[in-house]
Amino acid sequence: MTNKTLRIGLAGLGRLGRRYAENLARAVPRAQLVAVVSPVDAEREWAREALGDARVYDDYAAMLADDGIDAVFLVTPTSLHPAQIEAALDAGKHVFCEKPLSLDVDDCRRVAKHAASSRHRAMVGFVRRFDESYQHAAQHIQAGGIGRPFLVYSQTTDLTDPSGAFVQFAPTSGGIFLDCSVHDIDLARWLLGRPAAKRVYATGTVAMYPALKPMGDVDNGMAICEFEDGRMAMFYASRTQAHGHDTHTDVTGTAGKVSIGRNPRADRVEISDAAGVRNTVVPSFYERFAPAFVTQARHFVDAVLDDTPFELTMEDAVEATRIAVAMRESLQTGRAVEL
Ligand SMILES: NC(=O)c1ccc[n+]([C@@H]2O[C@H](COP(=O)([O-])OP(=O)(O)OC[C@H]3O[C@@H](n4cnc5c(N)ncnc54)[C@H](O)[C@@H]3O)[C@@H](O)[C@H]2O)c1
Repeated sequence: MTNKTLRIGLAGLGRLGRRYAENLARAVPRAQLVAVVSPVDAEREWAREALGDARVYDDYAAMLADDGIDAVFLVTPTSLHPAQIEAALDAGKHVFCEKPLSLDVDDCRRVAKHAASSRHRAMVGFVRRFDESYQHAAQHIQAGGIGRPFLVYSQTTDLTDPSGAFVQFAPTSGGIFLDCSVHDIDLARWLLGRPAAKRVYATGTVAMYPALKPMGDVDNGMAICEFEDGRMAMFYASRTQAHGHDTHTDVTGTAGKVSIGRNPRADRVEISDAAGVRNTVVPSFYERFAPAFVTQARHFVDAVLDDTPFELTMEDAVEATRIAVAMRESLQTGRAVEL
């Protein structure tokens, strides 16, 4: 590609899509946000006001027909990802898609095959890999700093939302393991050196949101995954933390351990008084990972323009969904699931 900048069309202007729009418009030097699409009037109105010159579409196919777009960013509901990735590749665009690739393993495999045979490139984003602290930990592990890593503990836990608004997304999220633990699964595979997964066992409880029960979902889930060569991982996902968004990971090896983000501190202030010592906590994933979303977008843009490899493969994205789907099956059947 000879372009000095990558001309991007962004699909989805919801909770996360607006952050992407602002990042692509202002914080990714080699990207040019030239178009956006949303089926929602209010979101298109926001785009006209917030994004200046970007062309605003109400139909995804119409945006794909725009010859002035080199790559598409998808920040749309997960159920749309497979068809939207395939359509973008067929329209001659490179694709960045938010996690997870799909809620369905066969769809994942089909899209990965489609991408492998396309002249254009596709990457699914797992933002935590681009966080400075996770990068530091990965470099330490890869340099042999903890010997042979064999155990990961990783959790993604959200602040309690008294309104319960997230429950309306639950039927299309694929459940707590596909929505939340999929990040930890990807991290575990990455930090353990991409071992093959052998078996999972999961359980969970509804601690605060009974509306999840008829959907077969829980608000607190635990899972164990066994990998080849005695490597293993433990996952915890929750929607009901009283203190804030608490995402952290420990990796144990034969010669040491690394812990990433154990205290989910909002800043570097610690208050000491008669009640003890405390700090405030990030309220959501975005405050925790905002810089990593920019780094991830820069990585995609640079890799496409410079024709260098992506940090993440489509196979990584397929495997994250495959393991998360098996966890949901284990949760719902009460049995271990062989992979
Ligand atoms: N990496 C993370 O930590 C993280 C966090 C939140 C969400 N996500 C992922 O981002 C994606 C979007 O999540 P969200 O919370 O922003 O959802 P959302 O429901 O807030 O936004 C979805 C957007 O897609 C738009 N949309 C719906 N149908 C469309 C279509 N046919 N064409 C174009 N746009 C369409 C909607 O109008 C809306 O703007 C999901 O896949 C989710 O898993 C990732």
